Amino acid sequence: MNEAVARPLNLFEYEQRATDQLAAFAYDYYASGAHDEITVAENRQAFERIRLRPHVMRDVSARDLSTRVLGRAHALPIVAAPMAFQRLAHPQGELALARATSGLGVTMTLSTLATTALEEVAAAAEVPGWFQLYVYRDRALTRDLVARAEASGFEALVLTVDAPLLGRRERDARNAFALPPGLVAANLPSEGLRHLEGAPGESGLFRYFASLMDAGLTWDDVAWLRSITTLPVVVKGVLRGDDAALAVEAGAAGIVVSNHGGRQLDTAVATIDALAEVVEAVDGRADVLLDGGVRRGTDVVKAVALGARAVMLGRPLLWGLAVDGEAGARHVLELLVAELDLALALCGARRLEDLSADLLR
Ligand code: GLV
Repeated sequence: MNEAVARPLNLFEYEQRATDQLAAFAYDYYASGAHDEITVAENRQAFERIRLRPHVMRDVSARDLSTRVLGRAHALPIVAAPMAFQRLAHPQGELALARATSGLGVTMTLSTLATTALEEVAAAAEVPGWFQLYVYRDRALTRDLVARAEASGFEALVLTVDAPLLGRRERDARNAFALPPGLVAANLPSEGLRHLEGAPGESGLFRYFASLMDAGLTWDDVAWLRSITTLPVVVKGVLRGDDAALAVEAGAAGIVVSNHGGRQLDTAVATIDALAEVVEAVDGRADVLLDGGVRRGTDVVKAVALGARAVMLGRPLLWGLAVDGEAGARHVLELLVAELDLALALCGARRLEDLSADLLR
């Protein structure tokens, strides 16, 4: 980055800066949500509506941001969300994000639709990653992806359950979104599966989902997935307590309260508004995480206070990559962590376990 230009002070400024770096179609792909993008906005607004009721005079001179997720200690309550096609943001794409996140002890979730092969990303990361799985109608292909993720040292599978079809993102339809020459969905074995074809007024990714992904998934498929892997399965994309209970009964070790960053069903509830119901239904039987709209340290405090073990951070990491590659993504994390640490202190908390729902109004 040009040293004469001050570094962004917060995650919002990274997004503004990224708009200058990215091709318009790539920015649109990352930034957009479904239809009117009401849920994209609502994820933020719901965090902003919640007020904090801090404690004071509690000796916060030493603080600890660590947590446990899927039975392992994590230095921070942050996991990188799965995001497709990261080489659209920076030539080093997923490799840069793996280095940036794992350098801070943060686990990265690699998308099935990565532009770098999962074996290469696993080799670049210093802490074990999670592998996000889309289930293709071709189950042999899906099984092979799972086997490769397991063999490469990924620690968990993150099954996305809110995308039987892709949400309609009108910006992508307008741009006839497709991967530019030189970029492919690198985890897939054949040319036909590695490319997306846009069409006038239609996103290539929307078409890809409709032709290849399995829209017939049910909770029984979680049992199928568990039968072909020893890895824990995290179910991502749950917004209701009853579904969360079904996910646990199907054997999920983790649940991500997510509306896919507002990219699937528009007007779906904000994730922070859905969290308490899910935590109650899960009742300690699985680890609950949340994504969607996390931009400030206080957002992480609010999610943890409502029972999340960690948050997933998505788009801001892409803005960091776009602005300054690995260093930009690392700085995005550092900014969020500094805000979280400050918010913890100002809430009168020394550890994440000190945060509880009575802090919120
Ligand atoms: C891909 O998974 C997307 O939501 O764009």
